Amino acid sequence: MLAEAVKAFAPTSRPKNQEFINTVESASKIVQPDTPVNDPFSIVSQEMSTLAKNIGSLLGSGHPTLNKVALYYFQSEGKHVRPLIVLLLSKALSEIPVDQRDRGSRDESDSVSAKPMLGEGVDDPLSPLSILNEVNPNIVLNPLSRPMSALPTESNGILPKQRRLAEIVEMIHTASLLHDDVIDNSASRRNQPSGNIAFGNKMAILAGDFLLGRASVAIARLRNAEVIELLSTTIANLVEGEFMQLKNTAVDTTTQANRASFEYYIHKTYLKTASLMSKSCRAAAVLSGARDPVVEAAYVYGRNLGLCFQIVDDMLDYTVTDAELGKPAGADLKLGLATAPVLYAWEQFPELGNMIRRKFESPGDVELAREYVRQANGVEKTRELAVQYANDALKQLEILPPSDALEALKKITMAVLNRKK
Ligand code: FPP
Ligand code: MG
Repeated sequence: MLAEAVKAFAPTSRPKNQEFINTVESASKIVQPDTPVNDPFSIVSQEMSTLAKNIGSLLGSGHPTLNKVALYYFQSEGKHVRPLIVLLLSKALSEIPVDQRDRGSRDESDSVSAKPMLGEGVDDPLSPLSILNEVNPNIVLNPLSRPMSALPTESNGILPKQRRLAEIVEMIHTASLLHDDVIDNSASRRNQPSGNIAFGNKMAILAGDFLLGRASVAIARLRNAEVIELLSTTIANLVEGEFMQLKNTAVDTTTQANRASFEYYIHKTYLKTASLMSKSCRAAAVLSGARDPVVEAAYVYGRNLGLCFQIVDDMLDYTVTDAELGKPAGADLKLGLATAPVLYAWEQFPELGNMIRRKFESPGDVELAREYVRQANGVEKTRELAVQYANDALKQLEILPPSDALEALKKITMAVLNRKK
């Protein structure tokens, strides 16, 4: 099953130049807006402006220092791309006529049923197993559907539970950053000393745990078992992805080694970054009451966007300075990480295999690997891969009715691809 999943996430072919040009052209055609949307942020600015305050009210601990550490990253200038996407998608989903948003709810408040249904036993999964186990989803029609009584009131097209979902996603992401900076022994984030530097490893880890604990309460209060299951799985996925990264690629000396390492990298990237985006997009669609094909499209959109996001991140690590990034640049090779640019260079320079295996630890490895990446156009190839994923994400949006929010989603997808930090 894992192998199938890996195959599904891995690019089937690496684009040649003409293919690349076509891909960019078709991507930009898709994003020609019917209605001009200048700033995707403005459509949900009200919700975005209350994000940090609402998270703050979810956090309150009896211990002032714990509050301070847990809130630390929310006070700096972040991109907040995850909540922005959840809010824009929720608003775009609200344009689907209400009579087509009749997805069965697994809300506990609705769950009075005469006979037990699949999904109500403690061992029954509510979300399709393929989604929970990271297998590329075929469209599995969920037999659990039953009518939702009435949709609660939307404000600006966004349900209160979807707004809370956006806040929860940012809390989970921030918890993972606090932990990640300890693991990476990072010195800065968002142009400030990172949490581990400002407060020490122990407090940074505990603040991350506290955020996760509070996020879990907020998740439970969504009172939707399928959404609870999706979000809980993302937390496990983040850890699995980070663990795969720590363990590094199981590279061997066969001719298949490069391909296997690339598949490992994409799978790790899905777990580490794209699962939070894919499952939160899916959760926003579940909460909207949309039917299964829309829920699936939301999931696949989030998965492709998440993969694009991290691949761009891995590319920027090679191309941008510390000051521009607001965090240490050129960090991946120093951390022993073989990301897309170096994996592409390995195709041309087999000697990189040994360097990857020893995590670039011998003197001169980092510099030589960087030179191979330059000679093999590893950065350019990485960007082409990111374009493919952005394009695949945009295609999923075709299922949604036209709206300003939809145009904003397309814009934000391109912004993720073209970002410089
Ligand atoms: C940033 O990666 C880190 C992540 C996307 C996920 C990190 C996940 C964990 C540490 C597992 C623990 C999870 C939770 C929920 C507590 P990066 O190092 O490539 O990016 P960076 O350059 O921004 O640090
Ligand atoms: Mg890091």
